[in-house]
Amino acid sequence: MISFNKAQEVLIKYNQQHVLNFYNELSDNEKEKLLEQIENINFEEVNNIYKEVAHVASDSVTDITPIGRIDKQELSDEELDRYIKHGEESIKNGRLAFVTMAGGQGTRLGHSGPKGTFVLDIQNNKSLFEILCDTLKIANNKYEVSIPWYIMTSRENNDETVKFFEDNNYFGYNKEDIIFFKQGELPMIFTDGKVVMEDKGIIRQAADGHGGIFRAMMKNNILQDMKNRNIKWIFIGGVDNCLLKMVDPLFIGICEEKGYTLGSKTIPKRSPDEKVGVFCKKNGKPAVVEYTEITEEMANLRDAKGELVYGEAHILCNMFSLDILEKMEKVPLKYHSAFKSTNYIDNYGKLCVSEKPNSYKFEALIFDAFGLADDVLLLRTKREDEFAPLKNKEGQDSIETARQLYYDYIGG
Ligand code: UTP
Repeated sequence: MISFNKAQEVLIKYNQQHVLNFYNELSDNEKEKLLEQIENINFEEVNNIYKEVAHVASDSVTDITPIGRIDKQELSDEELDRYIKHGEESIKNGRLAFVTMAGGQGTRLGHSGPKGTFVLDIQNNKSLFEILCDTLKIANNKYEVSIPWYIMTSRENNDETVKFFEDNNYFGYNKEDIIFFKQGELPMIFTDGKVVMEDKGIIRQAADGHGGIFRAMMKNNILQDMKNRNIKWIFIGGVDNCLLKMVDPLFIGICEEKGYTLGSKTIPKRSPDEKVGVFCKKNGKPAVVEYTEITEEMANLRDAKGELVYGEAHILCNMFSLDILEKMEKVPLKYHSAFKSTNYIDNYGKLCVSEKPNSYKFEALIFDAFGLADDVLLLRTKREDEFAPLKNKEGQDSIETARQLYYDYIGG
């Protein structure tokens, strides 16, 4: 482990000396943990992210154009049949893996454990994790396979997540086919560039966004594990959509037949002001424009049929070929910043509670990697079949709406 002197040297170089302000007051164990944190943080990178992200309002993309899609409703019976057969072959041959991104903090939901442990199905006492697992088990029976299930957690929720699976006997899933891996994290930074201290001996760090998945996969040799299992297609989804259909032969079949390396299931945006990211092309490459970035003009633009031109919503239902993931792993993503209110220890060792946003959290977003693919298959699906997000305690995309959509779908 790094020595105190070395740690001090690093902190002086990056103007973060305050981190060691209370070192002498810490227990041996706390001292060790703090030195370990300092050793593991790449301060050069953090400094660069702070300089770039905190001061630059938006990127310099100028050329945004519409993007094509395939509507599931418009496929003929013959096409549906052909694609599905094709996709089923792949699944039966064990070429599909599923990744759940479960490293988020779930702050809006306010549930006390990892979001996946939230019990949505009160009739059967099923958590979000179990609902996902049920979908996999049905597919495994149908296709006589055991689909590997990779679960990305974070430092904050990993142990609790793993324990939840153990306590529930992995919901009857083959234990060898459930693989947990942790995503990375980045320190939170005040507007003056100083890292936030959560306690006298702890630097406040937060998960580095769902775009952190590429780096996390690389660090944990996930693609190698997939190669060993002869995987070709990887479906990556969130933990909080209880209608997620990760085993979809139609989706794989179209990707295979048409030669796509990247696919995304979309739903039509409900209205110009719905808070979802939409697909487009940026400088000729597939991309998503976040609802916070879209201009009013772009959001309201309609085609001759009256449909929104930028109306394909990104719902975190993405399929990647192993080849394209290998490419995406190698290219670092840019970070976005969110200005958050964070409690902290000040220079006098006092805990300060902040009501107002006071510090930056840095996040990479998975769709920022889409531009590395030449094209993307957008498969438009029906909202009521594919999308029941659980984000908030109340109101839109809440416990009540997700539960209703789920019961409507399963006929409960
Ligand atoms: P959200 O962006 O909705 O965030 O994540 P969240 O953490 O669930 O909720 P809030 O914003 O704190 O209320 C969408 C999906 O991406 C995963 C989440 O677990 C969820 O499945 N995610 C998000 C990660 O795996 N890691 C992250 O760093 C962020």
